[in-house]
Formats: sequence, C-alpha cells, structure tokens
Amino acid sequence: MQVLKLGGSVLTKKEGYMELDQKNIDSLAKMLGGVWKSGVREFILIHGAGSFGHAVVLKYGLDNGVRTDEQKAGMALTHAACTKLSQAVVDALLKNGVPAVAVPAASIGKLSNGRITKMDSSIVLSLLSSGFLPVLHGDMMLDDKKGGAVCSGDQLVSYFGKGAERVILGTNVDGIIADGKVVPEINGANLQSVLSHVKGAETADVTGGMRGKLEELLRMGKPAYIANALHPERIEKLLRGEKAICTVVK
Ligand SMILES: Nc1ncnc2c1ncn2[C@@H]1O[C@H](COP(=O)(O)OP(=O)(O)O)[C@@H](O)[C@H]1O
Ligand SMILES: [Mg+2]
Repeated sequence: MQVLKLGGSVLTKKEGYMELDQKNIDSLAKMLGGVWKSGVREFILIHGAGSFGHAVVLKYGLDNGVRTDEQKAGMALTHAACTKLSQAVVDALLKNGVPAVAVPAASIGKLSNGRITKMDSSIVLSLLSSGFLPVLHGDMMLDDKKGGAVCSGDQLVSYFGKGAERVILGTNVDGIIADGKVVPEINGANLQSVLSHVKGAETADVTGGMRGKLEELLRMGKPAYIANALHPERIEKLLRGEKAICTVVK
C-alpha cells in the first residue's frame, strides 16, 4: 500500500479559523477520483488539520495537557472540528466516485507523551483490503501522561508509513527548500546542512511545520516524497510511481 498525506495548509485557509479551502479540496478529490477509476486503489489518505486544528488548540491552550473541564471541552471541540474538515474531504471524494470512509485516530488509538502507543490499524487495513479508501487525520487523542494531546497527521504518516511501499506528503511548497531551490534528495550526506534551512510553518502550526514533518520522516526511516499538492498532477504522478518535482527524503 501507499500512504498519501495532504497538508492542512492545502485543504484549509490556515491563517483563518476553521476555514475550508474548498477549491483545493475539490481539485484534489477530482484528481483522486481519476486515480481511483484507473485502478490505483491501494492507498490510505491522511490529512492535516490546518485551521480546524492548530488554531483551536491555541485558542483553548491545549498544548500542555488536558486536565480541567474547560480543557476537556476544548479537546472535544478540537476533535469535532477536525472531523468536520474530514467530512468535507470525504464528501468531495464521494462526489468523485471514491468510497472514502473517515476513521478518526482518536477513536482507534492512544498516545503517551504525545507519541502513539496504541492504534487499531487492523480496522484501517480491513477497510483498505475491502475496497474502501480509509481517511485519517491529525487529531487530539487521549494521552496517558498528559490527559490529551495533539497527534499530527505527520506522526500518523510515520506510523502507517512503516508498513507502506511509498509515502507521499502533499504540502503547500514544492518540497524542502534551501537557498531558494528545491532540494531533490535528502540523505545522510546532506541532512545536517539541509536541516539548517528547515523551520516551522509561517502559519499557526502546533506540530512544527516543515521541521516537524522532516523529524517524523526521519523517525519512520524509509523514503518519502514531499511535493506540492497545490499542483495535484504532481501528487498523481507520484501515486502512479512516476517522477515529479519533489524532495525525496531517503
Ligand atoms: N526549508 C523549508 N522548505 C520548505 N518549507 C519550509 C521550510 N522551512 C519552513 N517551511 C515552512 O513549512 C511549511 C509547510 O509546513 P506546514 O505548514 O506544517 O504544512 P502542512 O500543512 O502540509 O503540514 C511551508 O509552507 C513553509 O512555510
Ligand atoms: Mg504541518
């Protein structure tokens, strides 16, 4: 199987508060409809939370744990917001002939100190093998040390990517950029010099922006492609195993 992630920076207006980018959602769903119709179906979709997650977490001050009634209400609200975004993504996929089923990570997994310790991935894999497209998203989940914590879509990518053949991350830039240019490949030889160029996001992002993404990919320990999902044809090419403008993290 392949793992495809679509960033919250693409699916939402990240500078807003719970604002969809319906145009981007529709064009990516249309592309995925075509890919699905042509028989490429062995993949799971993970998406970020964008302004349905980060902005809400910051508003309710949930990045240091969930203990009080107010924080629990904030966590439930953040989860509900993320599922609304996911429903919008699923609706667009359904319109384009893709039998997408949302599987919120908060319903099948748990964290400890912000890291996944339990995940009933069998549900996800059964949906996949039964001909559905499982859709997961960055979420707020129970955490046995902090009460509740954010699980980024990027962490879900690193978790599910371990068992995948190819991992593709669609974001709002052409790849990892250093000195104004896309770095075609990151490997042991250039990692340190590239890292000095990699920062968080310019928008509100409680999960570390591009640096958080790269850290998750290095933990995963297998090749991943970072490409610009504002150009759906690049994501399509990568899903088909073809070349496209991107950064390969080896
Ligand atoms: N060296 C870099 N190359 C590319 N993007 C970078 C770099 N350093 C920081 N970034 C920021 O990371 C952002 C992508 O991360 P993020 O907003 O978290 O995307 P996503 O929504 O896909 O998770 C880019 O839009 C950019 O602002
Ligand atoms: Mg991000």
